[in-house]
Amino acid sequence: MGTKLVSISLIIFITTLVHFSWIASAYNVLNFGARGDGRTDSTMAFVRAWQAACNSARPEMVYVPRGTFMIKPVMFTGPCRNRIEFRNNGKIVAPDNFYAIANSGSWIMFYKVNRLSINGGTLDAKGSGFWSCRKSGRNCPPGARTSLSIMWCNDVLVRGLSSYNSQLVHIGIDHSNNVRVVDVNIRAPSSSPNTDGIHLQSSMWVTILNSVIQTGDDCVSIGPGAANIYIEKIGCGPGHGVSIGSLGNGYNEAGVQNVTVTSSVFTKTENGVRVKSWARPSGGFATKLLFKDLIMRQVNYPIIIDQRYCPWSSCPHQASGVKVSQVTYRNIKGTSATQQAVKFDCSPSNPCRGITMQDIHLTYVDRLFRPTLTYCSHAQGTHRGIVFPKSCF
Ligand SMILES: *[C@@H]1O[C@H](CO)[C@@H](O)[C@H](O)[C@H]1NC(C)=O
Repeated sequence: MGTKLVSISLIIFITTLVHFSWIASAYNVLNFGARGDGRTDSTMAFVRAWQAACNSARPEMVYVPRGTFMIKPVMFTGPCRNRIEFRNNGKIVAPDNFYAIANSGSWIMFYKVNRLSINGGTLDAKGSGFWSCRKSGRNCPPGARTSLSIMWCNDVLVRGLSSYNSQLVHIGIDHSNNVRVVDVNIRAPSSSPNTDGIHLQSSMWVTILNSVIQTGDDCVSIGPGAANIYIEKIGCGPGHGVSIGSLGNGYNEAGVQNVTVTSSVFTKTENGVRVKSWARPSGGFATKLLFKDLIMRQVNYPIIIDQRYCPWSSCPHQASGVKVSQVTYRNIKGTSATQQAVKFDCSPSNPCRGITMQDIHLTYVDRLFRPTLTYCSHAQGTHRGIVFPKSCF
């Protein structure tokens, strides 16, 4: 009994020691002049901590302790000499005045870093001033395109992070490969304009797992040049759903291929799973898309392909050049907030091909018990199992 207790205390003691010495050897931003008072500009301290860690030949950690750290637009640049972790136990906030970040491409950017892990903490971009400016119709700055940007990076893990109130996109992934986003929590009011949750493009092997996204625009949007994308167990809503696109805005555009969205719940979102392209000529495409095991709760358009996408007034009104093919919808159940639960509005010049509908059950939230409907234009495909609303194939 006695020896057991002693050995247990010894283990605890050693573990604590190892833990503390490890944190102490980390590049703590406080040691570089950061102040966790929420007011002091800690940008340069963060940059100095990053540079020191990045220049080390050993795997290193930049450590942000508890506290609220005010940061202006910042770029953490690689390549670093070894693996690097950005560990945040605190809260990083943007300045109160939205202009401070609204003229830079992004607020916090990781650029050309390989073997990076971004762990924990909160980011609050304080976007409300910027949203009000946009809504007022005043002449506003362009806005920070992303709160957290991962650009030209490889082998990245983003884990346990909360991101609030981005001016535009919360997390942007661009020109990066092998990125895992796990256990993140993204939040902005449903009325906030164009606040996407996660936007990715020109990137391969991106996984988004186990995350909650409540925002004013797309929960996840997947742009040109994305391939091998896997999204599992996300809760989306409020927001505009998961979108492939918008595609086909440019003529010379890379396609999107091999995207899976699975085991996810959409609550009161504008769309569930959507493919959207502009109605103009383009060499773009979207192929091998798999949407399965999804629950829709009062979603306006649970299943939609919209090849006449045009959110503003000047629409191109041509046929979309984007070729949509091999799209599978399997085991999608729940309720639609509009009668048209399934809509395939495809391109007259490039009809959608190879759409598969299997085990679909979507009912209309309607006091008159009207059935849901499917709309098809220039769409070709097959159906299997029970499909309700009845498929048009
Ligand atoms: C498609 O992407 C998934 C990851 O989502 C991957 O496991 C699979 O191997 C990819 N398929 C092809 C043919 O590359």
